Amino acid sequence: MVKADNAAATVQFSVAKGQTVSLPMLQEALRASAGQMGMGADYELCDIKPLKKRTKNQEDVMDISLLGFSGVREMFNIHPAFVHFPIALLPSALLFYVLGLTLGKKTLLVAGRGSLYMALAGTIVALWTGFRAEGSFPHNDTIHNMMETHEAIGIALLILTAFLALWTFWQSDQRPKGAWVFVAGLALASYLGFQNSDLGARMVYVEGAAVKPAVPVVTGTGNKEKPTSGEELEGHHGDNGGPEHDHGGHAH
Ligand code: HEM
Repeated sequence: MVKADNAAATVQFSVAKGQTVSLPMLQEALRASAGQMGMGADYELCDIKPLKKRTKNQEDVMDISLLGFSGVREMFNIHPAFVHFPIALLPSALLFYVLGLTLGKKTLLVAGRGSLYMALAGTIVALWTGFRAEGSFPHNDTIHNMMETHEAIGIALLILTAFLALWTFWQSDQRPKGAWVFVAGLALASYLGFQNSDLGARMVYVEGAAVKPAVPVVTGTGNKEKPTSGEELEGHHGDNGGPEHDHGGHAH
């Protein structure tokens, strides 16, 4: 079967399972679809590369051709790679402190303190990458609105986590002063972390934020290309008929 997509200027060939196809057959199909699309010129297939034969092992265990870090280059931004540190470390700190306080075990309090400091570092990086992510992909009103709330919760989370870290920082005793109030603060920070991850995940998995194949749906355009830099996104939404939205004075 041949499918021509005028907007994307591509022709897709699909071959029924179990069938084989030769190069001249493809060439013939291409010529026919070029005629269908009203393109007068002759198109020659070139640079046809045979698919590497997959061994039985590759199919069953793993395909080593998939190894490498092409994902990082392909993504609009690296925020998703760092968000899991605060999300995981804040509840870990909470659990260690609760166990340490109830069981009276100093080592658990030390583990809690360590997790809290690492959570603070993780929150700083999540926030920093989040700010960089903000203007890195084309988005619409719905995503923009969610992003502003996501940003506000992220900032609140950093302030609270920094405050809790400072609470323990000057103390030589592993048990923080006002221990259960401190634990309540940690519980609030864990909640904010979870709340922000749900909001972030909704942006991505429900609204299609920063998902390359979803860009035409999000913006209402046929442009499937990934912009390579923030500058290229000046006036990104609303162009080509995509949904407009008000940035309320924000730079991105
Ligand atoms: C500690 C604070 C933050 C946490 C825990 C967090 C967490 C998340 C999570 C879990 C996602 C979904 C990622 C995925 O599943 O692919 C996400 C996406 C996103 N977040 Fe955050 N975030 C934080 C701060 C921020 C800030 C301050 C901004 C700035 C506006 C921001 C902007 C974004 C954007 C634009 C996305 C959509 C996907 C992307 O482009 O990476 N985040 N965030």
